[in-house]
Amino acid sequence: MPVAAPPPRKNQGQPAARIDGRLKVTGEAPYSADISLNNLAFGVLVTSPISRGTVTDIDLSHAKAAPGVLDVISYGDMTGVKAPAYGNSTSTSLAPLREKSIMHDGQIMALVVGDTFEAASRGAELVRASYSEKPASATIESEGTETISAAGASPMYPEDPKAGDFETAFAGAPVKVDAEYATASETHNPIELFSTTCVWRDDQLTVYEPTQNVYGFKAAIAKQLQIDLEKVRVVSPYVGGGFGSKGPMTPRTAIVAVAARRLNRPVRCVVNRMQGFTTATYRAETRHRIRLGATHDGKFAAFSHEGKELTSRIDNYVVGGVDTTTRMYDYGAVSSKVQLVKADRQTPGYMRSPPETPYMFPLESAIDELAYQLDMDPVELRRLNDTKTDPVSGKPFTSRSLVACYDEASKAFGWSRRNPKPGSTRDGDWLIGWGCATAVYPTHVGAAAARVRLSADGTVVVQSASHEIGTGVRTVAAQMAAERLGVDLEAVKSEMGDTEFPPAPVSGGSNSTASVCSTVLKACDGIRAKLFEAAVKSNAGPLAGKKVTDLNLKNGAVAASDGASQKLKDVFKALGAGMIEEYAEFIPDGAPPNAVQALYDGKSTLVGGSKGKKLMYAFGAEFVEVRVNVRTREIRVPRMVGAFAAGRIMNTRTARSQLMGGMIWGMSSALLEETQVDSRNARYVNRDLQDYLVPVNADLRDVDVILLSEVDDEVNPAGVKGLGELGNVGTNAAVANAVYHATGKRVRHLPIRLEDLLEA
Ligand code: MOS
Repeated sequence: MPVAAPPPRKNQGQPAARIDGRLKVTGEAPYSADISLNNLAFGVLVTSPISRGTVTDIDLSHAKAAPGVLDVISYGDMTGVKAPAYGNSTSTSLAPLREKSIMHDGQIMALVVGDTFEAASRGAELVRASYSEKPASATIESEGTETISAAGASPMYPEDPKAGDFETAFAGAPVKVDAEYATASETHNPIELFSTTCVWRDDQLTVYEPTQNVYGFKAAIAKQLQIDLEKVRVVSPYVGGGFGSKGPMTPRTAIVAVAARRLNRPVRCVVNRMQGFTTATYRAETRHRIRLGATHDGKFAAFSHEGKELTSRIDNYVVGGVDTTTRMYDYGAVSSKVQLVKADRQTPGYMRSPPETPYMFPLESAIDELAYQLDMDPVELRRLNDTKTDPVSGKPFTSRSLVACYDEASKAFGWSRRNPKPGSTRDGDWLIGWGCATAVYPTHVGAAAARVRLSADGTVVVQSASHEIGTGVRTVAAQMAAERLGVDLEAVKSEMGDTEFPPAPVSGGSNSTASVCSTVLKACDGIRAKLFEAAVKSNAGPLAGKKVTDLNLKNGAVAASDGASQKLKDVFKALGAGMIEEYAEFIPDGAPPNAVQALYDGKSTLVGGSKGKKLMYAFGAEFVEVRVNVRTREIRVPRMVGAFAAGRIMNTRTARSQLMGGMIWGMSSALLEETQVDSRNARYVNRDLQDYLVPVNADLRDVDVILLSEVDDEVNPAGVKGLGELGNVGTNAAVANAVYHATGKRVRHLPIRLEDLLEA
């Protein structure tokens, strides 16, 4: 098998190719803005060139008079529309066209609608505005920010985890790290641009928009427009990359809906790359202080993690990654505190592993620093401090294969050959450094519903309003149905991304495979029960009188353990039906009994992570080689190895692909990506793919993904731990640790650029 399709180990599914792979690579898989509609008009956004102040005057007359311009939606045109309530389905409480105040760079000031995209673009250029500008606070260190405690400021973050007496334990620890770290702001740049298309048919609204949350969008837009939930449909058949940015709805959607209603014509607005930096969310910059104390032989005694995160003036977005870092090792005493720093920026939002990627960087860097102080191997230090229980609550993990991940990854990487002395390894002009770090991600699962239909000819349709955001969820849901219904994968059709289908949770928090597969499993078991019942009750049939518990579905037939079997079409004949359709609702342990109703109303209920009776987490270990040029200080990454344990792997091909993509993004967050904010005016500087660096093939050579066999029946019925976000956690620290090993220079901020190593 090629490397892209790892041979399945125990508890791992076949590396089936994506059932929509051909559609995707040929460009036939339609994104929302590709769907053709009659009489479509085109909207172009006009955004502010200031980040704080007031629009004193806006002149739309030239825009309205431009050839082909149909309408301009601006201040005063959103009457009757409610401001969004900030929450999981909405990116911000800002309603940009209600008041003329400007709260962030590139805030929406108008939508120009034209017969063509070109006419609308020209119209947008002709909008004139004047401003009264106020000084703006750009970032955490800027003057004029406001700092508040995160605990209680958001329902997402109730309290700072603590255990024992940290101060005393830390004071008494003979070996200590006390250091500060920083991570950069990053902007999502999925290849598919953001877009909204709204179509009204009488009082019925259809929204075509790339989203990770069709039901959440449906509820959010209905609430803003103050129309009934059942009058809205949201369609999002394929998403060309979301990474969190397409999870919550942004203010654009309601503006496009208003334009389409006023014109009585479908309106499509595709946001350009530069406007994507300001009209959607982003990963906020963070700052950290880590204090880690240990005995001389390396046993941790005290851990404290203080974090600061940037958010907007109006919304308390919080990631609070100490919820994960405080549970990672056997620390002894634990202390933590998270603060939000409010600045003149748009509200940040989810980006792949929102809490773990920025918060594991300082922890995993500090462990490497401690290992050098102790003169101890950093893998051994982690092994020594591994834990089977949560140091904060004392609760056990359902399963935790961290040490096994280190064993496999370090062996594959060749770690035992490492000379730990910084700067000791050189190949010509290149200093070679090896580093490692832990990957972790909470296992989430949510209530979901699904419909599965099995026809007498052995074809299957699976319907779920989950979202194909590149993860392969269509494929793994089909694999689950094929396995349970005993048909070939080719016989299964998987329909998703539409509120016409039964609801699934937001495709965020890496829950989709677990939630959707658990639900599809339940629906399939309903179908099996009906078929088995018919088979044992069919008087003349070969399975008459058998026990239903003795039956299975295999190769298009119901089969008993003694070899007797009856073809599917004959069982259907006995049943007197052409097909069986089962609708199933799945509510995981720990979710409220109304969780499926809540889902219909647009609210996903995810459980897992640190919340339940036991802790549910997936783990990994990542090893990175960097090469630093002694003359230019250029940093290259020739290879990375990651080993991961994530419960049942539904498909080793899609799993590898997710983890590889995560590791590449992790490397990118370490060395390339940074959204630069001008400290003078809180405006974004590098708002395009020329100046915002993302990795390309030439930035990496080998990425090796190892999938450990792990069985965990406690996490959910499918036994699946999500891994879409796992891969990019810890990679940044592994890179930083490798840079230290190569050069002896400890860089405690991201991204690490060659200018950071000039004196190394
Ligand atoms: Mo993901 S950042 O939970 O969409």
